[in-house]
Formats: sequence, C-alpha cells, structure tokens
Amino acid sequence: MAKKKIAVYPGTFDPVTNGHLDIMRRSMCLFDALIVAVALNPKKNPLFPIEERVKFIKDATRDLENLEVFAFDNLLVDFAQNHKASVIIKGLRAVSDFEYELQMGLMNRSIDQKIETLFMIPSQEYSFLSSSFVKEIALHNGNVSKLVPQPVKARLKKLSK
Ligand code: COA
Repeated sequence: MAKKKIAVYPGTFDPVTNGHLDIMRRSMCLFDALIVAVALNPKKNPLFPIEERVKFIKDATRDLENLEVFAFDNLLVDFAQNHKASVIIKGLRAVSDFEYELQMGLMNRSIDQKIETLFMIPSQEYSFLSSSFVKEIALHNGNVSKLVPQPVKARLKKLSK
C-alpha cells in the first residue's frame, strides 16, 4: 500500500485567522493528513495561551477529517519527524514574506534533507492579513468578522472591554 503523505502546517496562530484556515483547507486537498503545529513561541509574547490557540483551531476545523492540531515547543523538523510528516507548509502572502521564509526553509532543510518546504498562496482576500493586525483592530473595537472565526472574534471582543 502507498505510504501516507503527511504535511505539517506550523505557526504561532495568535490567534488563528481566516487566512490560516484558508491555507489549511487548500492543503487538505494535497495530502492524506495535515498536522497543524502550534508553536509555544514565548519570544513572540503571545496574547493567547497555547491551550486556547490550539482550541480555536480545533473548533474551526471540526469538519475536516484527517486534520490534527498539536502544540509544540521543539525544533519544527523534529516535530515533523516525530509525526512522520515529509512536508512543511508555509503561507506566502507577499514578496516581503519570501526572504525570511526562504531562510527558514533552507535552515530546516540543512537539518533534514528529506523534509520539503512547500509555499502556498492564500486567497487574495487574505493576502494582507496577519494575526497582529487582527489583534490591533479588535482591541480598538474594530470589526474583525470577516477576518477570524466567530469564537476568536468573541474572545477578542471580551479582551477589548
Ligand atoms: N494568513 C494570515 N496570516 C498569516 C498567514 C496566512 N496564511 N501566514 C502567516 N501569517 C502571519 C501570522 O499571522 C503572523 O502574523 P503576526 O506576526 O502579525 O502575528 C506572521 O505571519 C508570522 O507567522 P508565525 O506563525 O509567527 O510564523 P513564523 O513564520 O514566524 O514561524 C514557526 C513560526 C513556529 C514556524 C517557527 O518559529 C518555528 O519553526 N519554530 C520552531 C523552532 C524551530 O524549528 N526553529 C528553527 C526554524 S529555522
């Protein structure tokens, strides 16, 4: 039987946005299974604790079979190996993302040559989106309905009060 193709989609997801969810749904069409890897990433000083960031994604992807969500705090390549994933998916929104992503991709390849990085383009409507922008808009009482899933919106609203 053919080996299952498993991909990892990593990020800080503080919080998950519709742009991230768009990439997840697109990736699901290409792989047998997708693992969303939520980085603890304390150096980014996340607004939401890791458990909540994981739960937001689980709640928003309940309809997607073959998608699992895990927190991680080790090297991404080690996480991928532990989950038998051979591909790392990253979203590329604009040229400005490219240099940093290329560096990370090459660094990861230098650790494990067998793991490929695959860059995916989000829908145009999400190409300007970032978690920081979402937080800034929401915390100033702006409308983020079109940018994040409903539970994230509700939680941000509570925080802005
Ligand atoms: N839609 C909307 N926003 C998107 C997006 C998309 N499709 N893709 C990325 N973004 C945004 C994020 O929201 C985030 O925005 P913010 O900075 O305003 O919050 C930004 O792009 C960066 O995303 P982030 O999730 O923080 O990813 P990153 O590129 O900084 O990498 C890890 C995070 C977890 C992949 C990386 O730190 C890592 O691999 N850590 C593990 C340790 C390791 O292996 N290090 C060696 C790497 S060489």
